[in-house]
Amino acid sequence: MALYMKAAEILDKVEQRKGAVKTLVYDSKFQNIKQLFALVCETQKYSLVLQEIVENTRLLKHTNLRNNLAKVLVYDLLIGQGLKCGGNWKAMMLKHQSRLQAALARIKVKRKVSRNQDLLPPSVQHKGSDIPRYVRVNTLKTTVEDVIDYLKREGYSYHGTDLCSVSGKVFMRDLHFRDILVFSAKMDFHDHFLYKAGHIILQDKASCLPAYLLDPPVGGHVIDACAAPGNKTSHLAAIMKNKGKLFAFDLDAKRLSTMSTLLLRAGVTCHRLANEDFLKVDPLSPAYKDVKHILLDPSCSGSGMVCLHDGSSEEQEQEPERLKALATFQLRCLNHALKFPKLQRLVYSTCSIHPQENEEVVSLCLEKNPDFRLIHLLPEWPERGQDPLTECLRASTTKTFTHGFFVAMLVRQATPNTESSSKQPPVISDPSVVVDEQTEVSVEDDQPPAAKKRRNRKKPKKQKT
Ligand SMILES: C[S@@+](CC[C@H](N)C(=O)[O-])C[C@H]1O[C@@H](n2cnc3c(N)ncnc32)[C@H](O)[C@@H]1O
Repeated sequence: MALYMKAAEILDKVEQRKGAVKTLVYDSKFQNIKQLFALVCETQKYSLVLQEIVENTRLLKHTNLRNNLAKVLVYDLLIGQGLKCGGNWKAMMLKHQSRLQAALARIKVKRKVSRNQDLLPPSVQHKGSDIPRYVRVNTLKTTVEDVIDYLKREGYSYHGTDLCSVSGKVFMRDLHFRDILVFSAKMDFHDHFLYKAGHIILQDKASCLPAYLLDPPVGGHVIDACAAPGNKTSHLAAIMKNKGKLFAFDLDAKRLSTMSTLLLRAGVTCHRLANEDFLKVDPLSPAYKDVKHILLDPSCSGSGMVCLHDGSSEEQEQEPERLKALATFQLRCLNHALKFPKLQRLVYSTCSIHPQENEEVVSLCLEKNPDFRLIHLLPEWPERGQDPLTECLRASTTKTFTHGFFVAMLVRQATPNTESSSKQPPVISDPSVVVDEQTEVSVEDDQPPAAKKRRNRKKPKKQKT
């Protein structure tokens, strides 16, 4: 029941303009943040339909429920994955189930549609509903093969390569990243053993790009500048095989505490968490003298996160001011990050689709920092940064079947006195990502990383899932 109470409380606060969904969810201290986030987003998306059902069935009068509590319960009962509560509340909702179902059916008949998603307002239709559920296998705790075997034993079926075949319990391995598994959008692993044990991380494919591309070496010194809640930190740690130093900063203490739990569950040990403003971290401190890799994923508008946006005119009106402030902050972070004296490689990412926070920030930064240049990333990736920054990557629901995302990689230019990334191509520890002689970062999709790993080094000790 706690899930529904919390979700309703957050929806109340959003209506009272007490904060953004994402912030309120993270601040809630709820133990399963992702589950709560998904429920709040989905209820918001279907809000108009749910309101109609609640009113047409006079549910509030019959049950004494508050409006938003009724909406989250009706969402899960009729549209979501079924009620996750028991006791009196479940009994009460089941008592009204047939009337609620009939109300939903009448709305569909009236609108001449057969599927629930066709009831969504046009601005949100087709947006998030088509994004598959991506699962990153946490190689600090298990292997992709063991996870696939485990799921097969549970009745899932593994089908090679066609995204169209992914539905129900059928899943596939991602074509770009071999430790990502792809499931249907409806799949929810929040209560699954593999998730609770930290063997899998529920992370959108696009959000896996930054750590993959930064690809820090095992034993390296790395900074994750704006790190909480830590999915990218745990990904970096997996690539570094938990060896080296991973300095992770975040300004928000609550988000850092969520992050601590996440990293503990994921078995990450090479990190040093600090509740610090990255802009105040001294690049010349001896502590960071060996930092050669930085991941910068600063606060952004989140406009690529499809479930957070209903495209309302009110939302669009707020944008210019807010975007300007965000872009200024992002540029300051980027300029600051480039001051670390030994830095060779930096990945900048946002989950925003606005050029102001992406290409424009990167262009302004390059103007100010002629020692750095862009790397042409993943030539086979279907969506590029906006012209002229086509070295960078973008991601979207339509072209990459992910949330909207932007990634740029900057490397230090060769000078007679400095180490050069192009003179010394970085050692790529994950064989699914390779750097060729033109320092283009590419993804091999014809060989599983495990096969290549076997070629290069002794087989790591396998932990059974
Ligand atoms: C987009 S989120 C990072 C998500 C994270 N990289 C992940 O993958 O889980 C941005 C984070 O930057 C943090 N932040 C904002 N300003 C900051 C600053 N000046 N220094 C450090 N962290 C900051 C926010 O608290 C927020 O947690």
